[in-house]
Amino acid sequence: MDKRVHELLNQQINKEFYSAYLYLDFSNYFKAAGLDGFANWYMIQAQEERDHAMLFYQYLQNENMPVTLEAIEKPDKEFKAHIEVFEAGLEHEKYVTSLINEIYAAAYAVHDFRTMQFLDWFVKEQGEEETNANDLITKMELFGGDPRSLYLLNQELAARVYSAPSLVL
Ligand code: FEO
Repeated sequence: MDKRVHELLNQQINKEFYSAYLYLDFSNYFKAAGLDGFANWYMIQAQEERDHAMLFYQYLQNENMPVTLEAIEKPDKEFKAHIEVFEAGLEHEKYVTSLINEIYAAAYAVHDFRTMQFLDWFVKEQGEEETNANDLITKMELFGGDPRSLYLLNQELAARVYSAPSLVL
């Protein structure tokens, strides 16, 4: 495997674990605010991010490439309003999309078609992640200001259940 592609794939393990850590922090924020449904939504989001990290980990191992685990950064965002959490989520997903695109471009440059095929799932997944984050912002803008609507939105987000990723390595 190309050195740069390997570096970026290895780095992505850390980035995905950081995403899990960040969303766990978002869940923690909402739990403290008494919004259990919102907390549930981000708890499941954190589980999905851990799955993403493990997919990169497994891919490198399947390719007989070494894995190096690095320190996970501290999530340190401060929020003055609930909607800021969702906005930070969207911003973060856009950043992750840029990272996936960077790995894809590096793989493309060296004709690493296997890595490109592996990343195809993530390209699609990032589209879904950004759409979900955008939808949450829209819902908060529409309903977040009214306590009764906020209660119903909290119930809606409480219904989210975990499902394992569709990509199997
Ligand atoms: Fe692993 Fe939310 O992207």
